[in-house]
Amino acid sequence: MGINRIGVLTSGGDAPGMNAAIRAVVRTAVYYGIEVYGIERGYEGLIAGEFRQMNARSVSDIIHRGGTILKSARSEAFMTKTGFDAALNMLECYHIDGLIVIGGNGSLTGALELIKAGVIIEGLPGTIDNDLPFTDYTIGFDTAVNTVLAAIGNIRDTSAAFDRSTIIEVMGRNCGDIAIYTGLTGGAEIILIPEKKSDINEVCRRLIDGRNSGKTSSIIIKAEGFDISTAELERIIEEKTGLDVKTVVLGYIQRGGSPTARDRMIASVLGNKAVTLLRDGIYNKAIGMQSGSIVYYDLAEALAMTKTGIEDLNSIAFILGQ
Ligand code: F6P
Repeated sequence: MGINRIGVLTSGGDAPGMNAAIRAVVRTAVYYGIEVYGIERGYEGLIAGEFRQMNARSVSDIIHRGGTILKSARSEAFMTKTGFDAALNMLECYHIDGLIVIGGNGSLTGALELIKAGVIIEGLPGTIDNDLPFTDYTIGFDTAVNTVLAAIGNIRDTSAAFDRSTIIEVMGRNCGDIAIYTGLTGGAEIILIPEKKSDINEVCRRLIDGRNSGKTSSIIIKAEGFDISTAELERIIEEKTGLDVKTVVLGYIQRGGSPTARDRMIASVLGNKAVTLLRDGIYNKAIGMQSGSIVYYDLAEALAMTKTGIEDLNSIAFILGQ
């Protein structure tokens, strides 16, 4: 039968580099004479039939833009039988032979359900969280890390001027990668992540030891998914240490912005690979980068993998942050 027409969608939290991935998908498809449809608003648009045919010019001037020109959504309807069946129906109506899904864990889990229903899929890791174990880096992570790093620099200046400790809350509901990478490279004294329970008394002791050794200010990076809320953390540290503590919740600023070279590179290479795999009849893969090379696994296998490595980085950050 072969692949004559494909669809591409972005789903879940948008991530810088998604546009570069869409561009790579569309232009590779055009190059190989495959028709390509952009599906808007992720699975929501798939259900509603928001398809538009794309050509090489549809993706002009987007490689440097954050967000996603196809827009994104978190679709509750897709998780219902009615919504799911409507999505299948639309793929059939538009004669889509293969679908490329760019998104995070939830989006790729949705893609796996489509595979089980007979749809041909390729999955690309698009999320700032870096929580997908089949790839060293997800599209968007590097940009988010650099955005946070710039914020830490600014906060350091004012924190030092006032001899303050500042808690910076970063994104990451279940994954501490943004916190660890920015804490390590931003020189934080404390990093709190969802993967590791931290004793708040020890945190306070470290801050006091730091002050006694001559530190006049400190940075505490807290992932949003850490055990206790940021407000509670501020209250406890202030109460137990007597330090002047301020909080900055960075929020959605981390999701936007022009993608870094690394994100554009990963997005371009993986977007191109997704189309060539479809063309070569290699279906239903999750595609990522490991040690600088492109890798792909059956999507089911990829989603069942567990992420490793954060403990080592955490230990290094602990030593360096004293
Ligand atoms: O998945 C990316 C992410 O930015 C997470 O870090 C964060 O927890 C979540 O999305 C926020 O999602 P929403 O856009 O639905 O508020």
